[in-house]
Amino acid sequence: MAKASPSFVCQNCGAAFNRWQGKCESCGEWNTLVEEAGDSAVPVSIRAKRRGRPFKLESLAGKSVDAPRLPSGMAELDRVTGGGFVRGSVLLVGGDPGIGKSTLLTQATSLMARSGHRAVYISGEEAVAQVRLRAERLGLASAPVELAAETSVEDIIATLSEGATPRLIVIDSIQTMWTDTVESAPGTVTQVRASAQALIRFAKKSGAAIILVGHVTKDGQIAGPRVVEHMVDAVLSFEGEGSQQFRILRAVKNRFGPTDEIGVFEMTGLGLREVANPSELFLSERDLGSPGTAVFAGIEGTRPVLVELQALVAPTTLGTPRRAVVGWDSARLSMVLAVLEAHCGVKLSGYDVYFNVAGGLRINEPAADLAAAAALVSSLANSPLPTDAVYFGEISLSGAVRPVAQTAARLKEAAKLGFARAILPETARGDAPSDAGMALQTVGGLTSLVADIA
Ligand code: TYD
Ligand code: MG
Repeated sequence: MAKASPSFVCQNCGAAFNRWQGKCESCGEWNTLVEEAGDSAVPVSIRAKRRGRPFKLESLAGKSVDAPRLPSGMAELDRVTGGGFVRGSVLLVGGDPGIGKSTLLTQATSLMARSGHRAVYISGEEAVAQVRLRAERLGLASAPVELAAETSVEDIIATLSEGATPRLIVIDSIQTMWTDTVESAPGTVTQVRASAQALIRFAKKSGAAIILVGHVTKDGQIAGPRVVEHMVDAVLSFEGEGSQQFRILRAVKNRFGPTDEIGVFEMTGLGLREVANPSELFLSERDLGSPGTAVFAGIEGTRPVLVELQALVAPTTLGTPRRAVVGWDSARLSMVLAVLEAHCGVKLSGYDVYFNVAGGLRINEPAADLAAAAALVSSLANSPLPTDAVYFGEISLSGAVRPVAQTAARLKEAAKLGFARAILPETARGDAPSDAGMALQTVGGLTSLVADIA
């Protein structure tokens, strides 16, 4: 076997170079290249005689029923995975340290074990006693989960191959795993990739579902193994503001389900509690009657979610005014500000603008434009918006307010939570059910919204 030539691998994106350089040409990061032994050291078995046999798609028709999903017992988790863990699939869960990944997965494995499935939790970071301590705190110490503190992938696979095939395996975390088929240190891209490959092969062969935990770097990437993201079937991101109790689980990639669903949890002294109605939670600490806040009736996946948007517009002391955004796209904010300035005569160039989505939620929908504009104008005019109103609608560059999908679902959720009126695009009136139970106030253009508030 040819001796592997060393290569320099970017620890951020996994690109390999044959000499060291300060900047990775692939992802543009500085000082991320580390010398690693190449993967060519991995023995390749050549089995020319075993050809893959093609199947007719139709001949597999009835078979998909025995590749079912296994619900986890946590509805919010199942919502994000698309209905449970698929046999033989591998899922990567990323998130900041301390956000609650180990807590979530301890709960999931315990529930799985309690319902009679073999579930294994392998920790490469904590001792078995620590994992047990957490389970005790969660009131799950009696669940028949198998625990192990192990970091060698070969040992793990050997152990898992004994006895009945586990239905769910958690590897906490993939960065601590190592395989002796490659020489690099644990945590390096080469090791992480080779370990993930070995575990993925095991999942496909055995039919077990594997969850890999991945750490996140300061800029929110799953550290090192961006490469792993491409190898696994689904990538879930566990997010939340450190100071707040809400945690949001979001699918970044999902081969077997939707990617726009979110699962909402609350971190309590007894672990993560599922939040079945996120709107109530996001609106629970509303600052009623203060200027600069508007309630947006949004849709996350299939579920309507009401959330408060907060804006603060204050005279600037700087040459270039500040624009700070949390939970929304800053380019989208700039666009709404430009439209307000160009079409509605709202002068914002002398003001700092701060914008926040309450509860740590991240909004991606253009439908939030109208609510954002209402919050901004309300702050600038120092005039509070009606507390019983919700807003939704997309704003175009011409200043028109355009219709958005799922008007009926948004109105229904708002009515359920006691809102009495909705400010929505003129063209959306036709989509609103006659029994919406709310006063509908339509706006054709942003100018009329501004005139109403100011
Ligand atoms: P953990 O699951 O260890 O985070 P991660 O694996 O993502 O690094 O959770 C860490 C935090 O959660 C820790 O700061 C304590 C808090 N926590 C609770 O508030 N309640 C609980 O029941 C548990 C187990 C943890
Ligand atoms: Mg952990």
